Amino acid sequence: MKPILVSGIQPTGKLHLGNYLGALKNFVELQNSGKYECYFFVADLHSLTKDCEPKERQKRTLDVALDFLAAGIDPKKSVVFIQSQIPAHSELTWILNTITPFGELRRMTQFKEKAGSEEAITTNVGLFDYPVLMAADIFLYDAAFVPIGDDQLQHLELTRTLARKFNAKFGETFLEPKALLTPAPRIMSLDNPTKKMSKSQPEGSIFIDDSPATIREKIKRAVTDSYKTTAYDPKNRHGISNLVLIYSAMSGISIDKVIEQSAGKKYSEFKEELAKIVIKSLAPFQAKKKKLSADAKRVSSALASGNKIANSVAGKKLLEIKKKIGLI
Ligand code: AQP
Repeated sequence: MKPILVSGIQPTGKLHLGNYLGALKNFVELQNSGKYECYFFVADLHSLTKDCEPKERQKRTLDVALDFLAAGIDPKKSVVFIQSQIPAHSELTWILNTITPFGELRRMTQFKEKAGSEEAITTNVGLFDYPVLMAADIFLYDAAFVPIGDDQLQHLELTRTLARKFNAKFGETFLEPKALLTPAPRIMSLDNPTKKMSKSQPEGSIFIDDSPATIREKIKRAVTDSYKTTAYDPKNRHGISNLVLIYSAMSGISIDKVIEQSAGKKYSEFKEELAKIVIKSLAPFQAKKKKLSADAKRVSSALASGNKIANSVAGKKLLEIKKKIGLI
């Protein structure tokens, strides 16, 4: 049997180059490697931690499903599903909550960043509990591997801790999953390259749906520095290093080669070339998405069959867990 791999993306907005290079593009490559049994889902339960009009949420959920299919996730090779359609995710989260130390969740960097100074008063408990839902997402499919960007590594570490805790208490039940990182596990914001590119910071993001003109404009405005030459020095020269990384990840050319090719070029010339690469790399995805958008039946039938398989797999695992803890 092939090892199982699972990952999801929240429908909290349009997907950006970080989601694409840190996760989605990798999903497709891992699927096509033929080495794994793959499960990919739209994490709409996770997205509830952020306010959104119900109609808009539905629209975004479908849009991320379209992104999956347009990027090359093939429902004949991978199980593609919508998280909320699998009740076992919510049920297992509650069970895991009861073995999760409060202090472990308090330490999570993403929670601290997202909750900000309002942390204790106005932040919803869902945002705090997000990593436990993520552990449930992984355990239900017995996943050995989880392709993620590096902002999720701390959450995955908690998943591994919970696996050990549960197994020690109730017997061998969960695997300790490992991360599969891409060569571009952290794409930074274009307008503030010390922060990661994020759906909630649209000013610094290139969305994978952006038109060529918008992509060109955003790259032109990207923050660099006062040095004259391109370089890859992510610790000291955040802006230009981020652009070099994007160039390399989108083109498949190594970072060293990108630096070599751009020697002697002005930042404006390098940015113009980068824009061309990004536009060209995203064109097939954008064309396929346009085609799929006009074929709602194909998308809904792919999701319906993915939901059915996921429900069956997750349902069986949940039964095993419930037996172990004495609920049935
Ligand atoms: N900047 C990034 N660079 C590389 N990978 C990234 N990912 C997110 N941002 C970057 C990876 O994309 C996958 C899906 O992320 P998500 O939508 O589930 O949640 P997120 O990490 O919280 O993404 P955002 O864009 O920052 O969303 P918001 O603003 O809604 O919180 C994950 O594998 C993630 O690591």
